Amino acid sequence: MSKMWSGRFKESASELLDRFNASIPFDQKLYKEDITGSIAHATMLAENGILSESDAKQIIQALTTVKEEIESGEFEFKISDEDIHMAIESRITAIIGDVGKRLHTARSRNDQVATDFRLYVQNKSQSLSEQILYLQKVLLELAKKHTETLIPGMTHLQHAQPTNFAYHLLAYISMFKRDYERLQSSIERNSTSPLGCAALAGTPHNINRDRTSELLGFREPTLNCLDTVSDRDFALEILFNISTLFVHISRFAEELIIWSSYEFQFVKFSDAYSTGSSIMPQKKNPDVAELLRAKSGRVNGNLISLLTVMKGLPLAYNKDMQEDKEGVFDSVETAEVSLEILTKSIETLTVNVDKMEKACKIGHLTATDLADYLVKYCNIPFREAHFITGEAVARADELNIDLSEIELSELQKIDSRIEADVLPLLSLRNSMNSRISKGGTATAETKNQIKYVENWLESL
Ligand code: ARG
Repeated sequence: MSKMWSGRFKESASELLDRFNASIPFDQKLYKEDITGSIAHATMLAENGILSESDAKQIIQALTTVKEEIESGEFEFKISDEDIHMAIESRITAIIGDVGKRLHTARSRNDQVATDFRLYVQNKSQSLSEQILYLQKVLLELAKKHTETLIPGMTHLQHAQPTNFAYHLLAYISMFKRDYERLQSSIERNSTSPLGCAALAGTPHNINRDRTSELLGFREPTLNCLDTVSDRDFALEILFNISTLFVHISRFAEELIIWSSYEFQFVKFSDAYSTGSSIMPQKKNPDVAELLRAKSGRVNGNLISLLTVMKGLPLAYNKDMQEDKEGVFDSVETAEVSLEILTKSIETLTVNVDKMEKACKIGHLTATDLADYLVKYCNIPFREAHFITGEAVARADELNIDLSEIELSELQKIDSRIEADVLPLLSLRNSMNSRISKGGTATAETKNQIKYVENWLESL
């Protein structure tokens, strides 16, 4: 069968070329966007007298039929059609005859693919945003139950200061909020329609790009056609947005893995979201969290891959750009399933409050409070206070107790300026609740943060 572009060719393409050149094995995912774009294009062509009303009607009807054929599994995707654009066009021509050949007036596959792919990215950015919001709601519900639950705050994975578990979750809620906002701002920035840019330089036909832009739900047409057909920034943006989302997911996954270990036992995954070992019968493994951690590598690879493809390409469209799609599909689908399973894992997670609170009694979490006391109430310079506190920590270690349990007499042996009013400050809960500065961990301030997020979610 001869190809749509074969007019100037004498020999037919090799089967190997067909396989190497075709994008239809993967770009068939864009069938919906392609048909939506074609319907908008045909509608505008008819409105502008470029297509007759009856031709446009037949074309649009045929496009709808093709959509049904694809969705019912009847449609035959052929490598020889090369890509989804030509597959659909040749099928409508088979259905309605020569009228179908008029659809490609004033358009090229270059603006067509840019339109289809942009629509896909815009839609997926929106659905991923919604999944992120749902995850945030689940995290927020969990946080509301744990504003008083003590957990050791760490730096360098070493015990640092007492915090509460809700506060810890709010750190992730904040990250996911930025991920949401990044996706939304990409949607806003990229809400421009490529359709009508044709091959690279526009078209002599009297088209109306504002109209197709409106029909497709974009804010406005793109400014410059040469840029438009070679622009894949929108694809890079979603890849970057997903990579950054996974930086956050992987950090959360890592903490969940650590927390679910025997040494910590802060949380327990439900059986439905854990796995066993084929040899060690006692084991319950956090495979879900481990895979979530690993997917970060995979989506980063997709980002680097497209950055590398796009780098140094001359204007305008180059076939290199056909390599833009698989990585984006992969990152999007990875993010979809990952957000779903992360959300489910959190919804079914058991939090072991006792273990978290008990862990706070290791590592002298209130040492900073002692130093702050020496500065605030004894007028001791911070450096000196730091040193005195270090001695108190060493003494507590000798006594095999936590600093929060040390007796006043022991402290006074180290520095006689210390008085009884220090003791409440060394309590873990008081220490957590003392950090009332904006964004701090005190339960009252944590509740403010929860309220803020709730208001934000309501405002959307
Ligand atoms: N399958 C192509 C792609 O995905 C469509 C655009 C082809 N354009 C061209 N001038 N060969 O990029």
